[in-house]
Amino acid sequence: MRAMSHFLPLSRVARLVGQPRSVIQRMIHDGELDTFDGMVDMNELLRVFPDVQWEDNGEFKRVEEIKAKAFSRRVMERTLPDKEVLAERLFEMGKEFAAAKTLLLHYDEVLRFLDHKLDDVMDVGDEPARQAVANLKQWLRQKLDATPTEAARAEALLAQENVMRIMSAQVTILPAGHEFFVEGNDTLLEASLRAGIPLNYGCSNGNCGECKAKLVSGQIKKVHPHDFVLKEAEKADGAFLLCSYTAVSDVVVEAGVSGAEDIPLQSIPTRVKAVDIINERVAALHLTAPRSQRLHFLAGQRVTLSAGEVSGEYYVASCPCEDRHIEFHIRRDNRPFARHVFEDLAKEDMVRIDGPQGRFVMKLDSRRPVIFVAWEDGFAPIKSLVQHAMSLEIAESMHLYWAAASVGDNGVGHYQDNHCRSWADALDDFSYQALDTAPGPAAIAEALLAQHPDLRRADFYVAGPHALLQALRAGALARGLSPLGWHGEEVE
Ligand code: FES
Repeated sequence: MRAMSHFLPLSRVARLVGQPRSVIQRMIHDGELDTFDGMVDMNELLRVFPDVQWEDNGEFKRVEEIKAKAFSRRVMERTLPDKEVLAERLFEMGKEFAAAKTLLLHYDEVLRFLDHKLDDVMDVGDEPARQAVANLKQWLRQKLDATPTEAARAEALLAQENVMRIMSAQVTILPAGHEFFVEGNDTLLEASLRAGIPLNYGCSNGNCGECKAKLVSGQIKKVHPHDFVLKEAEKADGAFLLCSYTAVSDVVVEAGVSGAEDIPLQSIPTRVKAVDIINERVAALHLTAPRSQRLHFLAGQRVTLSAGEVSGEYYVASCPCEDRHIEFHIRRDNRPFARHVFEDLAKEDMVRIDGPQGRFVMKLDSRRPVIFVAWEDGFAPIKSLVQHAMSLEIAESMHLYWAAASVGDNGVGHYQDNHCRSWADALDDFSYQALDTAPGPAAIAEALLAQHPDLRRADFYVAGPHALLQALRAGALARGLSPLGWHGEEVE
């Protein structure tokens, strides 16, 4: 008899129970949640999460929101897949339901046959045999009439999962093993960047061929035409462009993931979206890249910004997952570019970005606690890294420390304190501490390290002056940090 188990991939389990993937991975690691071939059985899920109300969870809510906003075309376009993709997903699901129904009819037939056979035994058997068969028939009837335990929760879980499968497709990237979801009409490239997974790409509009990947399983659909020509033999072997295709079903794809050294230097004309003078010492500069030429960079990298005759080097303060929006923190000093930002730069002005540079980037496979330390406006690359780590959802926990002097003391102040606090409020495994720079780098390093006596399983990302880097690195290594877990960037 074929078993009727229902297995779910980890990413979907995380979404269903409303937890980051890191939490699910920790439960598997600790033996609290059993998996089979990397998948979780639905009954195991119901057992381990007895309190989750599936129908209250994310995807149902999202569908409700979409329905509520049904007249807003933009919301519909962003979140719903196109008609053909929807039809294809419903068709696939229909096939599964048909297979399940066929199986149930088969079981029904087997049971009826068994019932007849038992009646035959009743007719010919002696009294003890007749009694045993009667008991067996009664037991069978009771079992068949009884509502399965957890039926209501299992039904709600399956319904929720079905909605999820219609709304989004899961992508697994080989050989790295990264997983993410494709929603709406996003291309596989857009969806990967939103999830913080930097797959190889160049132009993002079908010209360069840098995003070439290979479909291993599942179904994809072209949503943007491309000029780059793939050879027939490549196409026959499953080659396609990530920036042109979306996923119709769950897919497995072979694709390269970019390291800092793989990203080509780019020169991109952007427009000023806003200059936000946060306080006397810092402005947030928001730029928008052209639709056809997004900036390819990794969190923690820096670029050169030029406006007219002036230019300066700055860290990107936003996450690559933010699509065309790029944020910078400009400290008010004597550099001509900074003066230009504070005094002249206006909305819609052109700012050229050249870059990116730098290797102060996130390790994509870190499933350990991550400690971020920023000094003054070294917060810019740290903010980008924190957001990247959040979108990856793999760090076991995150701790952010930000040392800054107040504006009155010639510092930048904790100028985006509200962001840091909102992250700490929203995430269970995120802590934030605002520190004053007054005690100096050595004292701050000591106080901070005292909170983390054992660093054998940690990753450190620090952007600050040489003295802070030196003190933290020495102290962290003494507490067991692996040299591979240290990532320091000197920012004066
Ligand atoms: S990124 Fe250039 S073709 Fe896809």
